[in-house]
Amino acid sequence: MSRHVLGIRYLETTEIDTLLALAAEFKLRVIEGREVPQITNKVVGMLFFENSTRTRVSFEMAANYLGLKSANFAAGASSMSKGETLKDTILTLRYERLDALVIRHRMSGAPHLAARFFGGPVLNAGDGMHEHPTQALGDALTILERKGQIEGLRVAIIGDVEHSRVARSNAWLLSKLGAEVRFVGPRTLIPTEPGQLPGIVYHDLPSGIDGADVIICLRLQKERMSEGMLSSIGEYASMYQINQASLAWANDDCLVMHPGPINRGIEVDDFTADGVNSAITAQIENGVFVRMASLYWGFGGGLEEVIEPRNQVTARKAA
Ligand code: NCD
Repeated sequence: MSRHVLGIRYLETTEIDTLLALAAEFKLRVIEGREVPQITNKVVGMLFFENSTRTRVSFEMAANYLGLKSANFAAGASSMSKGETLKDTILTLRYERLDALVIRHRMSGAPHLAARFFGGPVLNAGDGMHEHPTQALGDALTILERKGQIEGLRVAIIGDVEHSRVARSNAWLLSKLGAEVRFVGPRTLIPTEPGQLPGIVYHDLPSGIDGADVIICLRLQKERMSEGMLSSIGEYASMYQINQASLAWANDDCLVMHPGPINRGIEVDDFTADGVNSAITAQIENGVFVRMASLYWGFGGGLEEVIEPRNQVTARKAA
């Protein structure tokens, strides 16, 4: 059996719980040096058509821990630069007998197209402005570890929501698990139809993060912005930067998160990014374990093969 991880929006809450519980279990085992399940004789294609550091390396690390082999695909050096369509590229990889695909693409929906033509599990590593499901899973695991639960938390997602697949996946995931989601940013960077996303919109930071338990800062995605969307970076920072002064509007123990890459001094200042409220390095670390869980689950693995039924507690409480 193979399963796809295309977007959080399409996952059942029980499936999200399973992925988080698997990730928590794999993390414990890796840290304690215990064995993790091995998926032998399978090859995962890593198709990164957009730049990536964290996501690509953590998928590689996840594959390594699970005993999977990976085949790297340098998009710039592929036949797509000769005009081959994505569909034909996917069919090529299918008939070269790759077993799974991890795909990042600037086009929203590219992983869905890949899933239609590939045959094995397809994992979305970020598609355009649509979804980045494994980032949201890693963020949820981080929040669970630090807060004990997600239900009932107030989570503010700050900044460039319009261009952010991280914001969308996090909004779906955290609202499915019962958090109150807020989007905070200037009008030009909030989607024109935010009603289609689960969250309440605020345009001023003090009310947007009032009483927040978690703040997720987003990178200003200048590469996806059209001219004139922001009057100046400095003005944005003065209104929306998370720093020691603005953090005072949130709860005392508010977590500060950022998916990276960070524009230090713009979305968040150095002191806060590296301070006691920050969970940024934990997000990076957990990225590896949720990607292990996604690959394992994608290949048909479940909780029952990893954790004895009597020790299974729902991830929402136990992760
Ligand atoms: C994000 C992405 O590529 O969507 N980064 C990541 O994967 N951690 C966010 C971004 O590029 O701003």
